[in-house]
This record gives sequence, C-alpha cells and structure tokens, in this order.
Amino acid sequence: MEVKLSASILAADFARLGEQTQEALTAGAHWIHVDVMDGHFVPNITMGPVVVQALRPLADAYGALLDVHLMIEEPERYLDAFARAGADILTVHVEATPHLHRTVHRIKELGKKAGVALNPGTPLTWVEEILPDVDLLLIMTVNPGFSGQKFIPSMMPKIVRARDRLQALGRNIWLEVDGGIHPHTVGDCVRAGANVVVAASALFNAQASITENVRRLRAAIEKALTPA
Ligand code: DX5
Ligand code: ZN
Repeated sequence: MEVKLSASILAADFARLGEQTQEALTAGAHWIHVDVMDGHFVPNITMGPVVVQALRPLADAYGALLDVHLMIEEPERYLDAFARAGADILTVHVEATPHLHRTVHRIKELGKKAGVALNPGTPLTWVEEILPDVDLLLIMTVNPGFSGQKFIPSMMPKIVRARDRLQALGRNIWLEVDGGIHPHTVGDCVRAGANVVVAASALFNAQASITENVRRLRAAIEKALTPA
C-alpha cells in the first residue's frame, strides 16, 4: 500500500510559500494540503481560492494533487470557486453542511474528487450512507483550527473502524488523517490503515530543514510498513 504524504502549508512561512512548498515536493511530499478556515466553523481564518490558484502551477510541475480541506460553514457556497482555482480534491466537514449528499455530488459534478471529514467528536456513523459516493474520508486527529496541536490518541480505534468499513465497501477510497502527525505518531496511523497523512508543523519548523523533515516522516512511514 502506498502512503501519500500531504504537506499542509498552514505552518509554512507565507512570505516564502512557493519556495517552501517546492522544497517539500522536491524532498518527496506527494500532495499539497490547503487548510481553508472561515472564522465560523473553526476559530481561525486562513486562506481562500487565490492561494489554490497560486499553487496550481507548482502542483502540475510535480504531479502533486491539491488537497483542499474546507473548514468552512456551508461549503457548497464556495465549491465552484475552489474548483475553478484548480483544486483536485475538495473535502468538506459533515458537521458544516446539512445537505452532505448534495454537496458531495456537486463536487463530483465539478469534476473533482470528493472528500468528507469528521471532527474528533463526530462518530463514524455520520458518514455511513455517503461513504460509497466519496473518494476520500478524512479522520481529524485534532480539533481543527490550528497547526501544532497534540495528536488525540483515542482516535486510533476510529481509524481502524474506518479502514474496516472501507475494506467492506471494496472501493479504493483514501483514508486520510490530519492533526498532530509526526514521526512518533504516523506509524500507528498507517498501521491502522491510513493511506494519506497530513503534516504541517512536522515539516515546516525551525528545528530542521523541510527536506530533512520530509525524510524523517517518510522514514517513519516506511518503517511502519516494513514487516518486523
Ligand atoms: C488543522 C488542520 C491541519 C493542520 C495540521 O485544523 O486541518 O491540516 O494544518 O497541523 P499539524 O500537522 O501541525 O498538526
Ligand atoms: Zn487540514
């Protein structure tokens, strides 16, 4: 099973966004994760379609997917804008829209991959009926809003159950984890069945270069996948 590393630019130096994203991709990150926050669904405000548009040429140059995580109320209002800006995957929170089925199908109509995300306190059963229609399931391993928070270990059984559900469906649906992913937490997640891991502060920090951080995270993933 190939595990994708999705580099969340939320912890990057925004004054050097292109350069830092490029370093992450050169070092071996597979996708670019864009965290969109509206100050309502989550307490923070971040970025919008212009950032997706600005990163599109870089994603093309590296064959990377633009993995857009919408932490916004009523995400259906902005799907067209993010699709036009060049997103590949549009992930919406089940807690943020009363008409999840319509929203997911609108994303597909726009020709994009559709993802659904669950906050830590939201049960997996909330996506039971929509799972067959989606391309990606995102299990949040922190409460969304900020990078640099601590991984919530009690999410592990949820990841395991999510993998079982996806297995039972027999479709290739990505299982993504996001929040507090570091070399010491990523192993358990991939062993539990996650095949997309998002990392912000583990990649963009003052302790080491982005290149070295990507290497460490990928090494931890490889180790977890290597039979003992
Ligand atoms: C949290 C965001 C995450 C965040 C992860 O609300 O959805 O993508 O950037 O940050 P780290 O990897 O630092 O926990
Ligand atoms: Zn995210």
